[in-house]
Amino acid sequence: MKTTRRHLLAMAALGLSLAGTASSALAADKPLVLGFSQVGAESEWRTANSNSIKDAAKQAGITLKFADAQQKQENQVKAIRSFIAQKVDVIAFSPVVESGWDTVLREAKNAKIPVILTDRAVKVSDPSLYVTFIGSDFVEEGRKAGRWLVDWAKKNAPTGEVNIVELQGTVGSAPALDRKRGFEEIIQAEPRLKIVRSQSGDFTRAKGKEVMEAFLKAKDKKIHVLFAHNDDMAIGAIQAIEEAGLKPAKDIAIVSIDGVRGAFQAMAAGKLNVTVECNPMLGPQLMQLAKDVVAGKPVAKRITTEEGVFTADVAAKELPNRKY
Ligand code: AHR
Repeated sequence: MKTTRRHLLAMAALGLSLAGTASSALAADKPLVLGFSQVGAESEWRTANSNSIKDAAKQAGITLKFADAQQKQENQVKAIRSFIAQKVDVIAFSPVVESGWDTVLREAKNAKIPVILTDRAVKVSDPSLYVTFIGSDFVEEGRKAGRWLVDWAKKNAPTGEVNIVELQGTVGSAPALDRKRGFEEIIQAEPRLKIVRSQSGDFTRAKGKEVMEAFLKAKDKKIHVLFAHNDDMAIGAIQAIEEAGLKPAKDIAIVSIDGVRGAFQAMAAGKLNVTVECNPMLGPQLMQLAKDVVAGKPVAKRITTEEGVFTADVAAKELPNRKY
């Protein structure tokens, strides 16, 4: 069992009450304080994720200190240090990139403040620097996108090379690295499926559009497929494709990831072929985890969310059911 600062406080309070002091329970009943460092507000997915966390904190009676890092690691490091200085009960964060967290996480550990990772994972030398990680399996999401494409190519491009352009997420981020890995793992079984261009669009619509415009301008290779690491970049790219006089989802097949409402609208309008779901509604589970971790209860090291794949033919029917 892990011993956290608040856990120690609760145990101390219990000791006092055993000694007959009535005020002890009050110390343990104070609302739990959670410091949360969010990546930013780069996508529809992220907005849904932030709202889920804020709403769930209110529902759970947890005091949330929320910091937006504007897609910068240095801002996240500052936020975590400030949470340590404020002696919050528990820290959670969605790391913008995978590496470079050892020092600040050790500072949190030394201060006996447990850390929960949400949405994105980290690469650290010592896994005890965080208690648990809740989020999607990004490699599997990439595989799902790849499997859809292999199947699509068999039916729609029965012969010849299939040229793919790839819009990657933020450089060095877990979803960009893992989705690429999963996608490539599947398509390598079909040598005619080739990624001919690949560049980061930083998970934003504006960058997705800008990079797709550059892909289209190059004109040296016909583009058959776009693989976008998230829906926002796909939506930006759809604009670029239309402005270039082409029909998205027809002249260029588009597979993306997230399953946000904007993607369902694009699919219902016949402009996007498929989206692989990535669930941002992590708030309620995170709040329960925060309570369990602070109470010293054992929790799983990795909690993976359940997700599906949605194609254009089901989009109109599914749209009213979407929560984000
Ligand atoms: O980490 C999850 C990814 O980050 C989502 O796919 C993307 O939309 C967001 O910006």
